[in-house]
Amino acid sequence: MKANMNATRTQKNLEAAFAGESMANRKYLYFAKIARKLGDEEVAALFEKTANEETAHAFSHLDLIFHDEKMTVQRLLELAIEGELYETNHMYPEFEQVAREEGDAAAVAEFKEQAAESAGHADIFAQAAKRFAGLAKVEAVHAARYQQMLDKKPA
Ligand SMILES: [Fe+2]
Ligand SMILES: [Fe+2]
Repeated sequence: MKANMNATRTQKNLEAAFAGESMANRKYLYFAKIARKLGDEEVAALFEKTANEETAHAFSHLDLIFHDEKMTVQRLLELAIEGELYETNHMYPEFEQVAREEGDAAAVAEFKEQAAESAGHADIFAQAAKRFAGLAKVEAVHAARYQQMLDKKPA
């Protein structure tokens, strides 16, 4: 996630806690996959159950970060586009440069590929935002037409 420069310490801590819980979630799902491959179904299931609880922890941090009660679909798409473009245009190019300097070809390839994937995600979200804006306009036209009809109706 893009760092918010004007955030309070608590807002920054919420972001860090969200990052930690999110990482725990994906890490435990990954560990479950390995444990299952190693033949320990019980430990795999334990990792999966705990991963779900980490998701709940991450979501309650997100509620305080994004104030879900005030959210709109348009804003969700804007935030998603912002995050994906940050990855595409800033984060991955910087990481790729460092990997190149350090001669880590696998990481260079990984960062390049993921930058392209993030650009793809930004595109898909942008298309959805356009559709949403279009729908909102159509809705407004329908509402206005309906209101006109109501206004013309004889009493
Ligand atoms: Fe947790
Ligand atoms: Fe993405």
